[in-house]
Amino acid sequence: MEKLEAALAKARELRKTALGSTPGTPREKQSAGVAAPVDWSDLPEIEIAPERARRNRISALLGGVDATPYDMLRSRTIRQMKDKGWRRLAITSPGAACGKTTISINLALSLSRQKDLKVMLIDLDVRRPSINKQLNYQPKHSFHEVLEGKARFEDQAVRIGDNLIVATNNSASRHPSELLQSVATREALDRIEAAWQPDIMIFDMSPMLASDDNVGFLGNVDCALLIAAAESTTLPNIDVCEKELAGLTNVLGIALNKCRYSDNSVGYDYAYGTYG
Ligand SMILES: Nc1ncnc2c1ncn2[C@@H]1O[C@H](COP(=O)(O)OP(=O)(O)OP(=O)(O)O)[C@@H](O)[C@H]1O
Ligand SMILES: [Mg+2]
Repeated sequence: MEKLEAALAKARELRKTALGSTPGTPREKQSAGVAAPVDWSDLPEIEIAPERARRNRISALLGGVDATPYDMLRSRTIRQMKDKGWRRLAITSPGAACGKTTISINLALSLSRQKDLKVMLIDLDVRRPSINKQLNYQPKHSFHEVLEGKARFEDQAVRIGDNLIVATNNSASRHPSELLQSVATREALDRIEAAWQPDIMIFDMSPMLASDDNVGFLGNVDCALLIAAAESTTLPNIDVCEKELAGLTNVLGIALNKCRYSDNSVGYDYAYGTYG
């Protein structure tokens, strides 16, 4: 365990070095001489129609009682990440269709309702990207093209409101595993973080058991949230993935999605805490 913690600390240090050996927070970075952040208002803004939000379970946009679970998840996420000085969160699951994308979008929207937080939501499920479909927005370029050096972030990303940037894909990458494990990807993310200075970056990832896409990438994040689907994800699969995740990054918690309640409504619950 000590070895693991030392390795994680070293990986974080390496990332900081890439950013210019500066302390963690954007404000500290600014005062330590890193270039001033790019103006977020320069990015085009998109809107999610309320009907689309309702249909795609984007309840954090609409607020109210349906947004409460995401606001609770937000509070726990912020508390843990702030305590530890973490800024990059990956969201993954054992199998497909557990609700990673739905939770990523809702958590990002919920976080962005706190006006003092700058939030970035990035689609790194470059095998089967879907944030664009859920938001009903087709970007001209894909985020994987930014990572491949074929497009500029400022020509690709858009804003929802003043303090949420969303980077999506309109196509799958032809080499998802290689792309996510590449040094070019690590450096591109470092450059984006240094230029735009988000407080939190959320990465919507692919399922862990379907490919090795995430394995080489997770050293680039500070922590991960594992989403399991009640009635479909098995306990052994949760266990295997939680252990694998803990070997790659810090596990923020496990969210159990699609829980069926006694009134027949469906929602989610979580076992939250830092593992590993
Ligand atoms: N709490 C929930 N209750 C009921 N259905 C849900 C819930 N969360 C998500 N869903 C639905 O489950 C389906 C899969 O959700 P989503 O695309 O977010 O999962 P995913 O884990 O990102 O899938 P993939 O592995 O394909 O990327 C969608 O139809 C979504 O609307
Ligand atoms: Mg998804």
